[in-house]
Amino acid sequence: MTDAASTTAQSDSAARAQIGVTGLAVMGSNIARNLARHGHTVALHNRSIAKTDALLEKHGDDGDFVRTETIEEFVGALQRPRRVLIMVKAGDATDAVIEELAAAMEPGDIIIDGGNALYTDTIRRERSLADRGLHFVGAGISGGEEGALNGPSIMPGGPAESYKSLGPLLESIAAQVDGVPCCTHIGPDGSGHFVKMVHNGIEYADMQLIGEAYDLMRGALGMPVAEIAEVFAEWNTGDLESYLVEITAEVLRQVDAETGKPLVDVIVDEAGQKGTGRWTVKSALDLGIPTTGIAEAVFARALSSSRATRDAAVGLASGALGAAPTDKAAFINDIKAALYASKVVAYAQGFDQIAAGSAEYGWDVHPGDLATIWRGGCIIRAQFLNRIREAYQENPALPSLLVAPYFKAAVEDGIDSWRRVVSTAAAMGIPAPAFGSSLAYYDGIRAERLPAALTQGLRDFFGAHTYRRVDKPGAFHTLWGEDRSEVES
Ligand code: 6PG
Repeated sequence: MTDAASTTAQSDSAARAQIGVTGLAVMGSNIARNLARHGHTVALHNRSIAKTDALLEKHGDDGDFVRTETIEEFVGALQRPRRVLIMVKAGDATDAVIEELAAAMEPGDIIIDGGNALYTDTIRRERSLADRGLHFVGAGISGGEEGALNGPSIMPGGPAESYKSLGPLLESIAAQVDGVPCCTHIGPDGSGHFVKMVHNGIEYADMQLIGEAYDLMRGALGMPVAEIAEVFAEWNTGDLESYLVEITAEVLRQVDAETGKPLVDVIVDEAGQKGTGRWTVKSALDLGIPTTGIAEAVFARALSSSRATRDAAVGLASGALGAAPTDKAAFINDIKAALYASKVVAYAQGFDQIAAGSAEYGWDVHPGDLATIWRGGCIIRAQFLNRIREAYQENPALPSLLVAPYFKAAVEDGIDSWRRVVSTAAAMGIPAPAFGSSLAYYDGIRAERLPAALTQGLRDFFGAHTYRRVDKPGAFHTLWGEDRSEVES
């Protein structure tokens, strides 16, 4: 055997890992452990070896790991076709790791990006790696640290062919609901990261709506935080059952050891954001989809963090405020109905955006599949995703979730409550932008006529932009500056 041949034979026999994970911060470590716990041999790599060793020292017993130091050693430890999951901070770091990996990999190998990448970056990366014969899979992974370890929801995009090799592996570590894994192939190139982005946008809307519900119980009903916690715990046993409602009760129950106050009262009220919510709204604007609930949630975070504006404006006159509701139990029920209806609006809008993105990029994303894999593992997991799944099973071409029989009835049942909540919030000066704008969206889509007709008239007046008529086809223009007769254009 020549030296070169013996080296190849050696490296092939060393190539025993089914998958490699590079980037061993909390999410990466937990995914690696989850894979190992499911019987897969996992090659480990991290820029600083200390992290790899810390993982092996603490959790080496979780399964079969291969410790590697260099990228070449890491790639060499993998069975063919090689599968590498990148779990690094989205952005430039991802490009750097991809470049290093691609240089060491061979045609047919698969690189998976499990971070929150911007879907247009994923499209670009997929194209450039495809030119080099490599498969690139942008996979949305949701569920935070706990989900990564015990079962996340996974949204892989990329070539269908890679899913054949990757699917069983990812499905084995995903959350399972009624025996169905929360992982499915979403579609080509950037589709996985696109749907994960919208998932996060819905997460923003969900959290904002929960925040408004909490604020109304405090501001309009004067309820103590501990009591509000119990209302959320109770809501978590019904239609609103969801991970975010469940952990709201947990966070509100938490008492600060130092001050004895509810923890929520010692947390600075400025919400952070890493970007996925903002991306969702930017994409919605480009696609022309009114994703208003998510937009309000992103803007509400931005408003909370506008410290200088808030400091300057605090104490501005409220004007005469309306009275607080007198029937506490009834108003809590109203808030519950408003929360449910606004949540349906947020999901309806998110699914509309996914349909528009899918059409724009030719992804053929199946909304029912998404509802299925979001039932478990992810941050927005909720009982009512079963209902969304059923709605799309009944009608895969549903024009809006709001017209699906179940949701139509549920929202119509709560509409009076929803209006009471929005009007009480306005009358009492309590900001509830997501409740309010979701109701306005609902009223907007159900209206027979909208003032958009006037907008068209104005556009025609100042810019001769033309308008269409309700009674005949064609485009028309009124000669505003002349005799105001109408001409067809
Ligand atoms: C998830 C989460 C996760 C993360 C988001 C939100 O699905 O597991 O969405 O991806 O929490 O990045 O981050 P921000 O609220 O900081 O934007």
